[in-house]
Amino acid sequence: MPDTAPVLPNDKQAAIRGITDRIEAGLIEVRRDLHAHPELAFEEVRTAGVVSRELTRLGIAHTTGIAKTGVVAMIAGGRPGPVLAIRADMDALPIQEQSGLPFASTTPGLMHACGHDIHTTTLLGVAAVLAELAPSLAGSVKLIFQPAEEAIGGAERMIAEGVLEGPHVDMALGFHNYPHLPVGSFGFCPGPALAAADTFEVVVHGKSGHAAHPYAAVDPIVAAAQLISQLQTVVSREVRPLHPAVVTVGAIHGGVAANIIPDSVTFIGTVRTLHAEAQDTAEAAIKRLCAGMAEGMRVRCDVTYTRGVPAMLNDDRVLEPVVAAVRMQLGDVIHRTEPSMGAEDFALMSQVLPAFQLGIGSGAPGRADRLHNSAYAPDEACIGLGVQALSRAAMEMLS
Ligand code: NI
Repeated sequence: MPDTAPVLPNDKQAAIRGITDRIEAGLIEVRRDLHAHPELAFEEVRTAGVVSRELTRLGIAHTTGIAKTGVVAMIAGGRPGPVLAIRADMDALPIQEQSGLPFASTTPGLMHACGHDIHTTTLLGVAAVLAELAPSLAGSVKLIFQPAEEAIGGAERMIAEGVLEGPHVDMALGFHNYPHLPVGSFGFCPGPALAAADTFEVVVHGKSGHAAHPYAAVDPIVAAAQLISQLQTVVSREVRPLHPAVVTVGAIHGGVAANIIPDSVTFIGTVRTLHAEAQDTAEAAIKRLCAGMAEGMRVRCDVTYTRGVPAMLNDDRVLEPVVAAVRMQLGDVIHRTEPSMGAEDFALMSQVLPAFQLGIGSGAPGRADRLHNSAYAPDEACIGLGVQALSRAAMEMLS
């Protein structure tokens, strides 16, 4: 088959591409092995073992057992310079795989349905490329294999255990496979790109009684129903329309019988925002509407509002050189994408460092895959392409 990829007159391009071509088949083997053996958050023992084995084979110094199952490796360049962290997540999801692939999960009820097997493998590929090209780097690369992204807790624990120090990390690069982008394409989103994900619980306390005599009771069901309707005004009436926000009630529990007014109703939900102002507004509005309902309907509303992972901020100081590097390595394959109200804990690194998360197209031709789907089957060509893109980004940022 003729080679139709753009060939640019550039030694770095040829060097990265040559190494990637040489290791790609081995990387796909590693990916299929990881895919067949998914592990949940903070249980990535076998996965971390594979990572450590591969790093050892490459002769790359690394530390295991950070944040329980995390692995951190260092590649020192030939000249002094800044420290760039590149982070991959390793955990799987509690989903029964339905892909029918020959290397499908061998663990009932667990699956790499978010492509973190792809991420782990891609970062191992980047390690192999940069280890070979290290003499030409001005600075160091810290490779972070992070546990527990899905459970939201791995990044926090790794930061608490010092992953951004010793040596101090100056900038961070993350990446995620994007099945909504065709393989071969890449995405970037300047500024806030993923949402802050808060949760709330509201317990509406009334007074139980016979359903035939509501005047002798205080009905928490009617109050909860009105309150949930009122919460729909938080986004529509209070948050700036150009600041995206979502308020969703995801569960409601109350009552047991048709003829009993219960004592209480509990409902829980999530608030997603890209801007701090919208987050503050939503939290205050939810609490105020609950207080108003308590006064108006004689109930008591206990509100617990919990701030979760913050918004992920893509910083131009990392985004711009990475986007340029992807274009230098692979041609005009990277385009701007929209922010998402999804969340991810790489955001914690983006709050304390200049950071950027690169989107790597993984959609296979003829499929319409989505993440967290039981039949998810990313196009494995995204691994080699991701390796090239991230390796070139590191080389340009440490040049
Ligand atoms: Ni993910």
